[in-house]
Amino acid sequence: MTEKKSCLKGVGLTKVFGLGRNRNMAVDHVDFDFAEGEIVSIVGESGSGKTTLAKMLLGLINTTEGEIYFQGKKRDIRSQKAKKEYWTNIQAIFQDPFSSYNIFNKIDSLFLDCINMRGGKHLPQEKKIEMMTEACSFVNLKFAELTNKYPFELSGGQMQRLMIARIFLLKPQILLADEPTSMIDACSRATILDMLMKLRNDTGMTIIFITHDIGLAYFVSDKVFIMEHGKFVESGTADEVILRPKETYTKRLLNDVPKIHEEWDLSTVDIKAT
Ligand SMILES: Nc1ncnc2c1ncn2[C@@H]1O[C@H](COP(=O)(O)OP(=O)(O)OP(=O)(O)O)[C@@H](O)[C@H]1O
Ligand SMILES: [Mg+2]
Repeated sequence: MTEKKSCLKGVGLTKVFGLGRNRNMAVDHVDFDFAEGEIVSIVGESGSGKTTLAKMLLGLINTTEGEIYFQGKKRDIRSQKAKKEYWTNIQAIFQDPFSSYNIFNKIDSLFLDCINMRGGKHLPQEKKIEMMTEACSFVNLKFAELTNKYPFELSGGQMQRLMIARIFLLKPQILLADEPTSMIDACSRATILDMLMKLRNDTGMTIIFITHDIGLAYFVSDKVFIMEHGKFVESGTADEVILRPKETYTKRLLNDVPKIHEEWDLSTVDIKAT
C-alpha cells in the first residue's frame, strides 16, 4: 500500500494563554500528521483545547511552541500576503454560523467573493451564476431563492448548508469543521455529515472534524484523535479508537453516547399511568 501524502502536520504544537497564576496550557505539545483526503476527527470535552488547536492551524492565533507543516513544507505566514495565500488552502466552518458572515453582505456577494478568491473575478456573468447554482444544488439549496437575501434570513440548518456551499466554491485543500452541526436537529445533522463526506469524495479535500460527540466522529472519520486537557491521549483509525479504546478517558466518552440499540430496561418504569 502506498503511503498517503502529508497534508497538515504538527510537531510539539503548544498554546499557552495567560501568565503566572492565570497561565493555562490550552494545547500541550500535540503531534499529528493528517494525510491528503483523510477525514480526521478531534474529539474531547468542552475546554479540552480543540478550538484553540483549530485556530492555530488556521493561523488565527500564534503558536506558543511547535511547528506546522503544510504539504510537507514548514508553514510561514508571517507576511499578510503569505497568510492570504495560506487561506486559499485552508478554510473553516464554525460552531456558530451567525458569527461567520458579514451580516450586511447579501448571499450573492458572499458567493462572488469566493469565486473571486479562486481567481474567477473576470469570468463571464453566466459562468459565475452557473457556479453559484451548482454550489447551491450540492447542498440542496435553490440559488434562485437565495439571491438578494441576507444570511440572517435563513434558518440555522440552511445557514450551515450555505457554509458548505461556500466551501464547495472555495475548494480549499483542507476544511476545518468546528462543531458544524451543534445548532441543528439530528436529521439535518446527518445531512450535513453526508455532505461533508461527499465533499471529501468529490474533491479529495482533507477534513478536520472537531466535535465532543464521539458517536458522530465514528460515523464520519478515517482517523480519530482524542483530546484531554490539551493533549492527544489516544489516536488511530476510527475502528481502533472507538471499537477497541485503550484509555479510560476514551471509554468514558463512549459511555456518554446513548446506546440506542440496547434493549430498554422498563422494569423500573411506572407504566400504570397509561
Ligand atoms: N483567547 C483565550 N484567552 C484565554 N484563554 C483561552 C482563550 N481561548 C481559549 N482559552 C482557554 O483554553 C482552554 C481550551 O479552550 P477551547 O476553546 O480550545 O476548548 P474546546 O475544546 O474548543 O471547548 P468547547 O468544546 O467548549 O468548544 C479553555 O480553558 C479556555 O478557557
Ligand atoms: Mg470549541
